Order: sequence, then C-alpha cells, then structure tokens
Amino acid sequence: MIIIGIESSCDETAIALVRDGKEVLSSVIASQTKIHERWGGVVPEIAAREHLTALKRTYQSALESSKISPNEIDAIAVTQGPGLIGCLLIGTSFAKGLSQSLQKPLIPVNHVHAHIHGALLGIRHSLNDLFPALALVVSGGHTNLYLMNGPTSFELLAHTIDDACGESFDKVGKMLGLPYPGGPHVEKLAASGNSSNFSMPVMLERRDQMAFSYSGLKTAVANHLRSASSSQQKADIAASFQKEACGQLIRKIKEAYKLKPEAKSVIIAGGVAANSFFKSSLQEAVPIPCHFPAQEYCSDNGAMIAALGYHEFVHQQTASNLEWDVFSRYPFEKFKTLKADSP
Ligand code: KG4
Ligand code: ZN
Repeated sequence: MIIIGIESSCDETAIALVRDGKEVLSSVIASQTKIHERWGGVVPEIAAREHLTALKRTYQSALESSKISPNEIDAIAVTQGPGLIGCLLIGTSFAKGLSQSLQKPLIPVNHVHAHIHGALLGIRHSLNDLFPALALVVSGGHTNLYLMNGPTSFELLAHTIDDACGESFDKVGKMLGLPYPGGPHVEKLAASGNSSNFSMPVMLERRDQMAFSYSGLKTAVANHLRSASSSQQKADIAASFQKEACGQLIRKIKEAYKLKPEAKSVIIAGGVAANSFFKSSLQEAVPIPCHFPAQEYCSDNGAMIAALGYHEFVHQQTASNLEWDVFSRYPFEKFKTLKADSP
C-alpha cells in the first residue's frame, strides 16, 4: 500500500511516498531555515507563503524520484496539527484537492505522534519487539513522553510545563550568539567545553514528578553569561547546559520505565534526537534498546506523516472524508466518529 505524506505545519514543506508504512520510496524536504534565520525564529506568515510556492514542486519532485505515478497512490496522509494554522491550511487544502482528484482516502495525521514513526523508519525490529514502548518527542515545540501499546496508541505520561527542550537549546544558542536554530550549534560548542565548571539547577528534581521544565535552566545560563566573557567559558556553559538539558530527559525516562516496566524499548524522536551526547548518555542509562531516527528523519519530513498515516489507515480503516476540521489540535475522537458514520 503506497501512501503519500504531506507535511507543512511549520517551516518545512515536505512530501514523501512510503510503501506499507516502512519503505521510503522518496522523501523531499524544502526547508525554510535560511529564510527565517535572520528573524531568529519562524515567522508564521512568511512560512505559510513559502509553503504555497514550494508545495507543487515538492510534490512533483517526490513523485519523480519515487517513480510512482499518481494513480498508484492508495491514500493521502497529511499533517492536521498541531502547527501554525496558516501553514496547516496550505498543506491540508492541497491534500484535500489531491484526495478529490485521485478519489483516494484522506488520512489526518497528528504531527507530534508522527515524529515517533520517523524514528522507526528503517529499523529492522518487528512491531512486536518494540511495543509497549516509551516514546519521547523532543523537538522545538514539544517535550512529550508517551507510553505506546501499539503503533497508534499514545498515552501521554509527561510534558513540559514551560519551554520545550529544543526551544531551550534555541534560546541558549541565541544568548551565546550562535545562529538559529541553536541546537546543533550548542552541541558543537559544548564538545569543546567542560560541563563541571558551571553549575546548573537540577530541574524537577523530585524523581516521581512526571513533567519537564526548561525555563529555569535558561535563566541559569543567562546569569552565568553575565560573568563569563571568554570563549572557553562560553563553551563550558554550553556543555553544562547540555548536560542538564539531556540529563533531565534521561531521569524522566528512567522514572517512566519504573512506572511502566512492561516497556520493551525507548523511542526518541524530534530535532533534539540528533544530539549525539543525548544518544550516548541515554543508551548507557536504560537497560532496554533505544531507537533514534536516522538524521534525515529527525526534523520534520513527509515520510513520518505517511508512516503514521499507514498505521492509522490499517488499524482504524478510515474512509475518505473531507469534512474533518483543520483547526482541531487533537481531532482523533471526531475522526473516529466520522469513520464510524461513514459507509
Ligand atoms: O523536530 P524539529 O525539526 O522541529 C519541530 O520543532 O517540530 O526540531 C527542531 C528543534 C530545534 O529546537 C533545534 O534546535 C533542535 O531541534 N535540535 C537540536 C539538535 N538538532 C536540532 N537540539 C540539540 N542538539 C542537536 N544536535
Ligand atoms: Zn516537528
């Protein structure tokens, strides 16, 4: 079964064709990072207009490199949310048009959940070996920890009470005078720093507190930077920040594993999953296998949308409907109702 995945929730216009939820036939990503760099963050109106110009050529390029013709597509999966509303409207309108013209089902996909399926693309394990799994989405907008009993089951165990982890990397990067997005630059700078030279607050220290918090860590960096001027001190601050930013994720995953010992694996997804320090520290800290996305599936991409779309389709057998509401953030209850009503 071939599904086309369409992603336009933030600053990447991305389209992929994926067979049976796992074999990526093509994945094309038109990134707007360079366009937003000068503003230090994504400007929603600019992002939406860029999607408008990029979508058609991204679609054509994804089709060409997959060697699939439009009439071989079995269903269309599209990011329904969460995301920037102007951006979502462009992607969902395109997907609805495609669904109409090809007369194929349309599958609304939750972007945050789809990131987890991005981490599973290309791994050899069968689903039975993976689930139940602890799954962490750690991106610029989310720090969500789930228990997944199967590919379409997402029980939220913890989320951030203030900033997202990736957002804190971006803000700290900005304070350190690094380019946007800060995450990869902070990681690079941290590699030449000593994480013992500056102390950072241990966030949400009570181990059983199932939540994440990053704003205090950001304030600690700002305070340290007032008295630090040399480039070595800045590298030390970056290393200390990274240690606690990732340390907190690891502590909470360990705690979740105590609560859910049935978990067979840990799946990490989202932009921060690209952080090598985090990858090596986590696998050392937990006794079950940890899966990280391949580099190309860490950031937003269409393949993860198609992959989750596939599982939604086969597990829930959605029928084509063009009625679902693009403005809802978590529309699955409604989605299920529509499905039950459809012929
Ligand atoms: O998943 P993503 O591409 O976009 C969404 O937020 O949905 O994640 C982007 C985030 C940014 O905050 C970026 O700074 C962070 O992921 N990031 C990293 C690294 N690479 C990207 N954070 C830490 N270390 C990295 N190597
Ligand atoms: Zn994302």
